Amino acid sequence: MEAQELRDAYINFFKSKGHAQIRSASLIPENDPTVLFTTAGMHPLVPYLLGEKHPAGTRLTDFQKCVRTGDIEDVGDASHLTFFEMLGNWSLGDYFKKESIAWSYELLQKVLHLGPDELAVTAFAGDEDAPRDEETAQYWIEQGIYKDHVFFLPKEDNWWGPAGQTGPCGPDTEIFFIDKTKKPCGPDCRPGCHCGYYTEIWNNVFMQYFKDKDGKFTPLKQKNVDTGMGLERALRVLCGTETVYETPLFTGIIGKIEEMSGKKYEEDKKAFRVIADHIRASTFLIADGVVPHKMGAGYILRRLIRRASRYMSTLGIDGVRMKEISEVVIREYSEAYPELRENEQNIYETITAEEEKFHRNLSKGMRRFDEMIAANGDSKVLNGEKVFQLFDTFGFPIELTKELAEEKGYQVDVEDFHNRFKQHQETSRMDTNQTFKGGLADHSEETTKLHTATHLLNAALRKLISEDIRQKGSNITPERLRFDFNLDRKLTPEELAAVEKYVNDAIKADIPVVCEEMSLEDARARNAIGVFDNKYGEKVKVYTMGDVSCEICGGPHVEHTGQLQGFKIQKQENVAAGVKRIKAVVGKFD
Ligand code: ALA
Repeated sequence: MEAQELRDAYINFFKSKGHAQIRSASLIPENDPTVLFTTAGMHPLVPYLLGEKHPAGTRLTDFQKCVRTGDIEDVGDASHLTFFEMLGNWSLGDYFKKESIAWSYELLQKVLHLGPDELAVTAFAGDEDAPRDEETAQYWIEQGIYKDHVFFLPKEDNWWGPAGQTGPCGPDTEIFFIDKTKKPCGPDCRPGCHCGYYTEIWNNVFMQYFKDKDGKFTPLKQKNVDTGMGLERALRVLCGTETVYETPLFTGIIGKIEEMSGKKYEEDKKAFRVIADHIRASTFLIADGVVPHKMGAGYILRRLIRRASRYMSTLGIDGVRMKEISEVVIREYSEAYPELRENEQNIYETITAEEEKFHRNLSKGMRRFDEMIAANGDSKVLNGEKVFQLFDTFGFPIELTKELAEEKGYQVDVEDFHNRFKQHQETSRMDTNQTFKGGLADHSEETTKLHTATHLLNAALRKLISEDIRQKGSNITPERLRFDFNLDRKLTPEELAAVEKYVNDAIKADIPVVCEEMSLEDARARNAIGVFDNKYGEKVKVYTMGDVSCEICGGPHVEHTGQLQGFKIQKQENVAAGVKRIKAVVGKFD
């Protein structure tokens, strides 16, 4: 089966059960500075899981692109991926355990062609936060799952979420494929064991709690179902391949690397997998607006490109050729993800520029690395200072240095490196001319200021450029704001300067930021700008800054505009036809 057939089969199955298909959201979560990437299908749906009304209804389904970067260094083995796709279906206060389990079982049979011999499931064993989930076990058994294929597991295995530090979560039931060609590794082998006998393919979360920042669980006002099936793993099961890399998802990409290197995948599976995974992920990240950088999401992208580049050279692929692999990714994925084709030129330019930059630094850095090893005396540990120097001067990601060191029988002091890296991040933030209360960076304070600045920017554009301007997207990191809006031409330098001045005047006027709760109608009557009208429940918060800005928004914001100190536009970009992007920072500028 091809990937697109599986996407279609899944979506059509849930459509037949009354679900509406929604589009895959960006890999960069909007207005959520606590995470770098969208890590699960539920991520873009958090407001709706918490009770906001979704315009498409209470039953949703989609395939969502995701990136998880917890273990970049493990990519290359049989199972780790950074980019992956998650098939999902949701009940927003609609059906619950019984229907969810019945439909999952039906799909497992009809689409994945799996019967009870090849399936095992888990249920929550119970603790002080939530009871033992006998109900779930019972529903599975009623469907046909063997009683001794149901495993009760504790919270560390059988509870999902929240995706960030706080948010919706709940007990889950995980569905495992049993590989009958293998044997369990021992008497304790059970779902979750990594010997290969059990593979998790699907997870149904019964999302009915909210975890707050003190770690307390309170019941949500609606009971939801959030499911996620890993597309790559499901395809692997369907195709009966050893790993996801032999599925049709990777045939084209791996074939291209074989052609470029003149080597076969079997000769160096690790290198092929690293290149395939990392370039696939990088291509998607750039399409969603990530730019290689020293920090944050841009740093992850840089690491992926650099690690891929290094493995390309171990396969003997010389020159700057990453773009050719990106081309295959775009060709194979743009039917499902048209944004790849729309951003094609930008993807090629960005990936090529970063690859070139790395090549220039690599040879210089390698020489420095060899000198460091030679000067390291009897010690077999490369200290954090040296590792950081390689990072700072030559752009060597930590895992590259680690791999180089391990090849020579050395270890690196990862902890010391991370401490230095953290310090460096704080200093760089200072360098972007942002001032911090008490001298230290506080993420929430910076993002709050940038959030207020976004409202002022929106107001300035509508006032000075066109009343028809609407927000098309917004993303805030502690370093900068990014605001996308509809306009079919670029702003002239004069217009940009006027917009910047308008925001700075509002900052100088030190206008109080007033927050009021009111009905959606009252907000409309006040002419408040509602960015995502459908997303809001009955009562909404409206933030007003004198007669400059009035917007429906969840907040938070600063108390008075003077706290922003100053506003500077860094860049204007073209995002797509008719959509422009402005990146800007706040702080004290002379
Ligand atoms: N949100 C759940 C997961 O990611 C379905 O596994």
